[in-house]
Amino acid sequence: MKTDHTSITETYRSYIESYFEEKCFVYDAEPQETLFDAMRYSLLAGGKRLRPIFVFEFCRMCGGDWYSAVNFAAAVEMIHTYSLIHDDLPCMDNDDYRRGRLTNHKVFGEAVAVLAGDGLLTAAFHQLSTADLPADARIKAVEVLSQCAGECGMVGGQVLDMQSEQRQCTQQEVLDIQSRKTGALIRAACMLGVIAAGGSAEQLKAAADFAANLGLSFQIRDDMLDVIGNAKELGKAVGVDENKNTFVQLYGLKKCDELVRTYTESAICALSAFTEPDYMAHMARSLTERTV
Ligand code: IPE
Ligand code: IPE
Ligand code: MG
Ligand code: MG
Ligand code: MG
Repeated sequence: MKTDHTSITETYRSYIESYFEEKCFVYDAEPQETLFDAMRYSLLAGGKRLRPIFVFEFCRMCGGDWYSAVNFAAAVEMIHTYSLIHDDLPCMDNDDYRRGRLTNHKVFGEAVAVLAGDGLLTAAFHQLSTADLPADARIKAVEVLSQCAGECGMVGGQVLDMQSEQRQCTQQEVLDIQSRKTGALIRAACMLGVIAAGGSAEQLKAAADFAANLGLSFQIRDDMLDVIGNAKELGKAVGVDENKNTFVQLYGLKKCDELVRTYTESAICALSAFTEPDYMAHMARSLTERTV
C-alpha cells in the first residue's frame, strides 16, 4: 500500500468500489431485477466513501489487516446509502438530486426506492454476519451497528430532525439531533474498524470519542454547504434547509466555521489512543474545508 495521504484514500476507495461493483447485488436471473438495479444505482453512485475509509483506517490503526474489514465497511456504507435514499423521498426532504444523479425515487418510483432502502438495510446485517472474522467480532459488530442505525441512533435522529421543522430548538436539542442523525453512523464506522482488528476497550472508547466530535464537525460543514456550497459540485441541491434547525440557523456561518475546527481538533485529541494516527488526523482536518 502506498503511504502518502492521497494514495491511502484512493486505495481504500477503490477497494470498496470494486467490492460493491463485483460482489454486491449482481443480478443473477432472479425475477426482482428492478430491485437489484435500484440498489446498485444508489450504492454505486460514488459518494466520498468516508464511512468505509473510517472502518479500514481504525482497523489498521489497531494493528488489524484492513482488507479483512471489508464486509464491515460495506455494511456501514449500505446503511448510509439507504438512509440517503429514504432521506430524499418526497415524504422526507423531497430532493431530486443525490451524488450527482437523479434521486432513487425519481428513477425507480417511490415504492421501489423505499424497498431498495429496505434491501440495503437488511443486506448490511448479512455482510456483518458473513465477514471473515471471529464470531465474537461479528456479534459485537451487529450490536454496535444496530444501535447506531436504529431508533436511538440515525433513525431516531431523522425523526427528531423532521419534527424540529415545526418549532425553534435549543442548542442542546440541535446537538442531540445531529449527533444521532449523522454522528451515530460515523461512530459505528470507527468502532467497527476497532472491532474488526480486535482492539482494546480503551481504543473502542477513543474511536467513539473521535466520532462524536467528528460527526458534529461533519454535519456543521454539511449545513454550511447548504448555504455556501455549489449544487453541481456537491451533487445535491443547496438552499433546502432554510426552515430547519441547522447549526447555521443557530450560530451563523462564521461561528460555524470556528465550531467545525474546534470539534475537529477535539476529535483528533482522541486519536492518541492509536499508533500512527497521522492519516486519520489529516483526513479529519481536510474535511473542515471540504466543498463536497
Ligand atoms: C451526506 O453524507 C448526509 C449526511 C449525513 C450529512 P455524505 O456527505 O457523507 O454523503 P456521500 O456519501 O459523500 O454522498
Ligand atoms: C441527512 O441529513 C442525514 C441522513 C441521511 C441520516 P441531511 O438531510 O442534511 O443530508 P443531505 O444534506 O440531504 O445530504
Ligand atoms: Mg434530512
Ligand atoms: Mg436531506
Ligand atoms: Mg444537509
